[in-house]
Amino acid sequence: MRLRIIGSAAGGGFPQWNCNYHLSRRVRAGSDGLQPRTQSSLAASADGDNWVLLNASPDIREQIAANPVLQPRASGPLRNSPIKAVVLTNADVDHIAGLLTLREKQPFNLYASRRILDALAANPIFNVLDADLVKRIELPLGSVTALEGPDGPLGLEIETYAVPGKIALFLEDGSDPVNYGSEAGDTIGVRIAEPGADAARHAHYIPGCARVTADLTARLSGVGCLLFDGTVYTDTEMPDAGVGAKTGQRMGHIAMSGGDGAIAALAGTELGQRIFVHINNTNPVLDPASPERKAVEAAGWHVGFDGQEIEL
Ligand code: MLT
Ligand code: MN
Repeated sequence: MRLRIIGSAAGGGFPQWNCNYHLSRRVRAGSDGLQPRTQSSLAASADGDNWVLLNASPDIREQIAANPVLQPRASGPLRNSPIKAVVLTNADVDHIAGLLTLREKQPFNLYASRRILDALAANPIFNVLDADLVKRIELPLGSVTALEGPDGPLGLEIETYAVPGKIALFLEDGSDPVNYGSEAGDTIGVRIAEPGADAARHAHYIPGCARVTADLTARLSGVGCLLFDGTVYTDTEMPDAGVGAKTGQRMGHIAMSGGDGAIAALAGTELGQRIFVHINNTNPVLDPASPERKAVEAAGWHVGFDGQEIEL
């Protein structure tokens, strides 16, 4: 299985369009080795020809332009795409807005949990995806599904599970001050692998997760590659930076560091590779010279980047 991180940033991207925090300013200036990043998405393929996207980011057009494997085949018909399926891990804007770019009468299959499919159904703009061509397929929590494209099996299976998290920002219920109307299935983790592959060749993709539970560490034990929520380094990073009031927890994201953070919570879990994705534009690890970047790498984690390839 080939994986390609096509977008390693959280919602907003890096730099974010309206951000003048020092990290966005420095990457815009091309200084200090900071790399621009597009919004959160992963591509996977068993055969290198047919691809599934995990999340469809608002930057999908730029991501296709940057990744020739996702472009129409010159030898194919007048309209063609190697993108045969899309899997969604939540209904946040950074994970669904790219669906609007995938209109133009191109068949593919769209997979998500019931809650995420309901969020799409409640937004009629997604009817630009012709229902005769783009089948919406439910991934029941806890189930294993063989992914298919319009022309047949993709040679990949996906297992879904609920992770602690939150309903999409634009669907938050203000009358529920604890969970904002969130339910199981609003945010999911996925295991993706070739059927029959042993755990060392499985990947888990979890770009949003508020807490590492015992259920999650049990699922992840012995897995070849974890791509995990790296939104913030500290929970209070956004208020500390002065760019907003929300903590990581309020946004449904665990911090990398600290006693309750992802690095500590997963330290005892055997994993082949551990890679942070969905990195917010306030996260100090974006600066390769930062002490935080060095601490993450010393703990055995990698900071995922756009264009990164993983072979399992
Ligand atoms: C998040 O990951 O918290 C969301 O992408 C926020 C958003 O939709 O802007
Ligand atoms: Mn997000």
